[in-house]
Amino acid sequence: HGEFAHILVTGGCGFMGSNFVRWVVRERPGVRVTVLDKLTYAGNPANIAGLPEDQVELVVGDICDEALLGAVVPGCDAVVNFAAETDVDRSIAEPGPFLRANVEGVMRLLEACRAHDVRLHHVSTDEVYGDLALDDPARFTEESPCRPSSPYSSTKAAGDMLVRAWVRTYGVRATVSNCSNNYGPYQHVEKFIPRQITNILCGERPKLYGDGLNVRDWIHVDDHSSAVWEVLTRGRIGETYLIGADGERSNIDVLRAILEAMGRDADDFDWVRDRPGHDRRYAIDASRLRRELGWEPKHADFAQGLRETIRWYEEHRAWWEPAKRATEEKYREMGM
Ligand code: NAD
Ligand code: DAU
Repeated sequence: HGEFAHILVTGGCGFMGSNFVRWVVRERPGVRVTVLDKLTYAGNPANIAGLPEDQVELVVGDICDEALLGAVVPGCDAVVNFAAETDVDRSIAEPGPFLRANVEGVMRLLEACRAHDVRLHHVSTDEVYGDLALDDPARFTEESPCRPSSPYSSTKAAGDMLVRAWVRTYGVRATVSNCSNNYGPYQHVEKFIPRQITNILCGERPKLYGDGLNVRDWIHVDDHSSAVWEVLTRGRIGETYLIGADGERSNIDVLRAILEAMGRDADDFDWVRDRPGHDRRYAIDASRLRRELGWEPKHADFAQGLRETIRWYEEHRAWWEPAKRATEEKYREMGM
């Protein structure tokens, strides 16, 4: 694992990027990290605060900024791209920013990596594969057709395709990973699990979309970080790897687990209107990652991971409270 001395982590002040930076600092102390982040509403420098200054540096900027990339990319051995607009409901309300960050931004990063011959790993989502029926025995594999449903996932699919085209046409050394829903500390309060936990902590009722039977395939964010590291350092160039930890659960089951862990009644929540185009079920077959790279998730116990996540939000009110009111205001406008 000694091949990268200095990596650039774009979007490293967001949920998964910051957890990845923390993972690298902990697990690969010899690796230097430069974080490039635009600090949108979703980016928070506090997410990487307190890390050793000689190991982690923050550059505030946009992955669409060609001149800035020309300055930071050449000094690095590899780029790991977490930067994106990531919220499905926001993409439905206002798709423009998603095209810029998730399509143009990826093109700019690819161009910079091409110009300076730097290795790129691009972090993407299982949502590019669309959805599965609840009773379908199938799971997504790397060969599943690309069939995105939302403005968010269609821009992520476009980004993934740009990466493949730059590998084939220009010989850029790049890989892609597509992961299912992550959970853990530092996740924005707009996302499902933190929204429900913080609603309960604020004395608000949790909100469940539609019939609550939609299924997501949950993975702890630290398991995502270890998988990304394996793909970055040992993955085959040009290849796509699905990341998942066999964590399929319906939304209502997850919500009831949160209510139970927080000592609330199982029916102490509101049903709200459904998300337009709401994907029914995601399910990941991560056999390639397990077989080729020997990766294994470490956080197999979802109930325990959820309890730890609840405790983190209980103990970090000052981290999430500033974003909570505006987030709920946005949801109220959408009737959700
Ligand atoms: P997030 O919304 O928490 O963080 C995104 C970060 O990117 C923020 O820090 C933001 O400031 C930064 N950013 C946005 N646009 C930028 C730009 N133009 N230039 C520089 N920085 C910019 O997102 P997340 O949930 O941590 O997701 C990270 C990546 O993982 C995304 O690419 C997302 O598509 C992918 N992904 C997320 C999940 C999940 O469950 N959250 C699952 C699979 C894949
Ligand atoms: O699958 C990976 C994807 O997971 C990532 O690519 C996205 O960036 C990430 O946001 C996430 O997308 P989802 O749409 O699955 O996540 P979200 O947290 O928005 O919602 C999870 C499920 O919970 C979904 O079925 C919608 C539902 N939901 C969500 C919220 C916020 C509710 O029922 N109530 C809510 O309040």
